[in-house]
Amino acid sequence: MTKEQKITGNITPPNKDLETLKKHFPQCFDKSGNLDFEKFKKQLSATEINFSKESYGMDWLGKSYARLLATDETTTLLKEDETFNQKKENANSENLLIKGDNLEVLKHLSNAYYEKIKMIYIDPPYNTGSDGFVYQDDRKFTKDELQELAGISEERAKRILDFTQSKSNSHSAWLTFMYPRLYIAKQLLKEDGVIFISIDDNEVAQLRLLMDEVFGEENFRGEIIRATGTTTGQTAKKVGSSYDTLLCYSKTDYFEFSGINLKGKDLNRFNNDDNDGKGKYALLQLRKTGNADRKEDREGMFFPIMSPDNTEVYPVGPTNYLSRWRVGKKTYETMIKENLIIWKKEDLSDVKEIFIGEEKYKTIWKPYVKYYLEGRTKKVSNLWTDIDGNKKGSIEIKDLFGFSAFSNPKPIDFINKTIEISDIIDEDIILDFFAGSGTTADAVMQLNAEDGGNRKFILAQLPELIDQKNNKTAYDFVKNELKVAIPTIFEITKERLIRASKKIQEENKDKDLSNQDLGFKIFETMPIWEDYNFEADELDAQQMLLFDESKLTKEDIKALLVTWKTYDGVSLTQTIQETDLSGYTAHYSNGKLYLMDKGFKTENLKTLLEKIDSDKDFNPTTIIAFGYHFDSKNLREISENIKSYANKKSIDIDFITRY
Ligand SMILES: C[S@@+](CC[C@H](N)C(=O)[O-])C[C@H]1O[C@@H](n2cnc3c(N)ncnc32)[C@H](O)[C@@H]1O
Repeated sequence: MTKEQKITGNITPPNKDLETLKKHFPQCFDKSGNLDFEKFKKQLSATEINFSKESYGMDWLGKSYARLLATDETTTLLKEDETFNQKKENANSENLLIKGDNLEVLKHLSNAYYEKIKMIYIDPPYNTGSDGFVYQDDRKFTKDELQELAGISEERAKRILDFTQSKSNSHSAWLTFMYPRLYIAKQLLKEDGVIFISIDDNEVAQLRLLMDEVFGEENFRGEIIRATGTTTGQTAKKVGSSYDTLLCYSKTDYFEFSGINLKGKDLNRFNNDDNDGKGKYALLQLRKTGNADRKEDREGMFFPIMSPDNTEVYPVGPTNYLSRWRVGKKTYETMIKENLIIWKKEDLSDVKEIFIGEEKYKTIWKPYVKYYLEGRTKKVSNLWTDIDGNKKGSIEIKDLFGFSAFSNPKPIDFINKTIEISDIIDEDIILDFFAGSGTTADAVMQLNAEDGGNRKFILAQLPELIDQKNNKTAYDFVKNELKVAIPTIFEITKERLIRASKKIQEENKDKDLSNQDLGFKIFETMPIWEDYNFEADELDAQQMLLFDESKLTKEDIKALLVTWKTYDGVSLTQTIQETDLSGYTAHYSNGKLYLMDKGFKTENLKTLLEKIDSDKDFNPTTIIAFGYHFDSKNLREISENIKSYANKKSIDIDFITRY
């Protein structure tokens, strides 16, 4: 198949919802692919789905604009920091740090990383009024365009443009900022993926409703209170704040939390050891304690058992009521066989007397069960007071830089806990698109070094200018030590990752870290060339003249290649091979062959077809040519030859001319 695409401005997040509907309810679509909603409703009613009669949700000025932003095309390309990425420690890394506005970054990732991310942690601006959050975007819609694209009234379009252009920090502005990012983030999550968002009082109520809307209320997993270790903002009129909130949502019902390994005071009761290799254990009363501990709660767990001196023992509660054991008879017998039961003699003053029917029972024996530590975990609660507070985050940064290079970083321990409970397996990817100082990456690398895991990270950070007045030390450090002319937070993120990696290697000299991924690759967004922006259906000879391709540098073409391959589903860390076709260099990865350069001739085409024929590792299913570097005769020749070759071999090869 031969196609033309204007793809540079066409990178939008995939929406698989329609695909899923079509797959499962083909009978509800007409010939032209339109959904017959009444049919669909009937179909669902037949499967006992009830339709909610109440419509409940959140509306704000800018919601339709936010929806538009979520599906609107990118305004940037992606380019690689080749010098950095080719360094020995980074060359094979699958970790990523991407510089740019995260909305653009997420859009670029949306095909290659669709449903590839296991866990997202973000710590967005809390919109406290003093954290510098203001709404900013460089999309230049006119009132009429916005009215048409978002399907809204003239008056609403005007009000939206007013606030998007007025550096607002209203709730509406914050929600408009967050919605498109969360919308795309959800597409990136695996089916069993999970997202955590740090937030505080200022926006928690708005965020909860927004998340209900984007992720679905049924995927709400918890609102966790994290003690920050300090109290701020207390006045005579307002209580101080000693916590922030961590909202947790899953992508679907497939997600399950993993338990938390026991630490600290939870370990105190595991103080017995038989030195038989089974490790430490605690002793629990065999009698059920706490709630539902009465005979009538579980009749089957009330039965006599034999004490070491062959007297019958019954479960008796503290105030002499008939209680029950923790287990039924069968499990109890297995426990005896496995040597899990221990008997202790009670203090004579503790001896209970009860009547079972007419009989009076009295025993001085009390049974206990061994409760081994090995494999024991704790379920997640929504109150986190057992981890390091915010001061620790600042100390961690100071340890690495020698000064406070970043204000209010989260402590590593906190991020570790979110990772620990997210049921992450070895190669899973963790994404943080409000990277800040890069705590998430530091936590991932530290955990991997500790347990030999191979988790990967992807971080995105805006090149936000460092405020020279408020953070002079950081500003001077980036300018003078890192030699970056315009100091931005991104440079701090990058430097933290480099330093954290070094520190981990130094601290783990006794371990073999050779299989650990302690490097990372850097990419960044760059604006698309101004006059490159016209629509695919306008691609006629006259339009093409509007763009002067001769001014594109080698670097520009490389950026186009990186952007396109990522759009085509090839991950950023997957290398693209240079393929020599008799003097013409093509680029090949994952079945995609890119012809980007000028000068493709008949002999190169011949070599290309011969290579497909003879090289079993070279199987392009799509060949993509950069239209501006080919003339129409050229393109026709390639298209016809590929078509007849594919027909002859009964294979499918698409040929796409892309602009
Ligand atoms: C609260 S901080 C995150 C701190 C981080 N959790 C840590 O431990 O260091 C939020 C970060 O998001 C960045 N940010 C804000 N808007 C952004 C955007 N549109 N794209 C990418 N990063 C952004 C800010 O520059 C800031 O560094």
